[in-house]
Amino acid sequence: MTSWLSRAFSVARFVRSGKAALFSVARFVRSGTAASSARRPSLLSRAGLLGVASLVIAVSSSRAEDTFFAQRVAPIFEEKCVACHGEKKQKGKLRLDSFAQLMRGGEGGGVVKAGAPKASELFIRVTMDPTDEEFMPADSKPPLTPDEVKVLEVWIAAGASETALLSSIKGAPALAAPQGPTVALAPDWHPRALQIAQLEKTLGLRLVPRSHVPTDGLVLRTASSPGRCDDAALAQLASVADLIVEAELARTQITDAGLTAIAAFANLRALDLTRTAVTSAGVGKLVVLKKLESINLTSTAVDDAGVAPLRSVASLKNVWTFDTKVSPPGPR
Ligand code: HEC
Repeated sequence: MTSWLSRAFSVARFVRSGKAALFSVARFVRSGTAASSARRPSLLSRAGLLGVASLVIAVSSSRAEDTFFAQRVAPIFEEKCVACHGEKKQKGKLRLDSFAQLMRGGEGGGVVKAGAPKASELFIRVTMDPTDEEFMPADSKPPLTPDEVKVLEVWIAAGASETALLSSIKGAPALAAPQGPTVALAPDWHPRALQIAQLEKTLGLRLVPRSHVPTDGLVLRTASSPGRCDDAALAQLASVADLIVEAELARTQITDAGLTAIAAFANLRALDLTRTAVTSAGVGKLVVLKKLESINLTSTAVDDAGVAPLRSVASLKNVWTFDTKVSPPGPR
């Protein structure tokens, strides 16, 4: 689905936001992580030769931040759940702000069944149909990303341990390597959360946060009902146009007229127009998208003349033109 998307711009922005960590040692600070793991082997190797057992013990036992729970699981709860399941509010009598509280469960009893994600109330709640009133997070709050769901799944499947080390639990989506300071891809979407929810409802499409970083922008998704998305729907997205950084419009009803609305998505990085009715006449409107990095025109009516204007978009790295009249090797 999204495999064509260049993820180059999506270097992980997993720098914790600087909020006080709710799990005392649960903070994942990129540079700190790199530095401490780089430091450790040298301490160990120095100590190892001399047989300074106490130092080795101190190093290996004091690293709660190296656990999978602290590094990967706790930050998800902190970001998406503790507003309703924490110190201030305990909806469903459930708190998710520490391992002990999590394991205590809520009014319906335990919410995590070690080894069995699909039998765990917590996992069921975050993976059920989002329109179900039991879906979590409640109240149309930003849902977990597929990666976050996967993290919970592998963690529960591996035994839902508090102490299992980060490296001991396999199958979790990788955190990309740290790559310099965080760059805002779009304005913070939070102030427009209500508007976003309303648009999703009336237009039957999804506007999904790219990550838990509020300035990472939104992904416009239509995959569950591409037939419902047309030029008129796109035109109604004007009030959130600057928040959309990826637009997955494959197989939608959009035409060249709809590209006018897309040309106003000023922060757009990736655009999928596979199997739409767009033509060479419309594609030129997209040259105003100065941040566009990828565009997929597979199985559309575009030809060489149509994609030629895209050469002026300096940021553009990938143009897919399979099954079109564009002559190989394509406009790179
Ligand atoms: C906006 C508030 C809100 C947010 C955010 C929220 N919840 Fe809830 N949660 C509720 C309410 C209200 C209930 C009680 C009603 C119910 O059980 O559906 C509840 C109940 C639950 C229960 C059932 C507890 C029990 O034993 O009955 C689980 C499990 C749960 N939430 C998990 C989560 C997870 C995981 C997240 C984060 C991904 C989350 N919630 C985020 C409001 C919220």
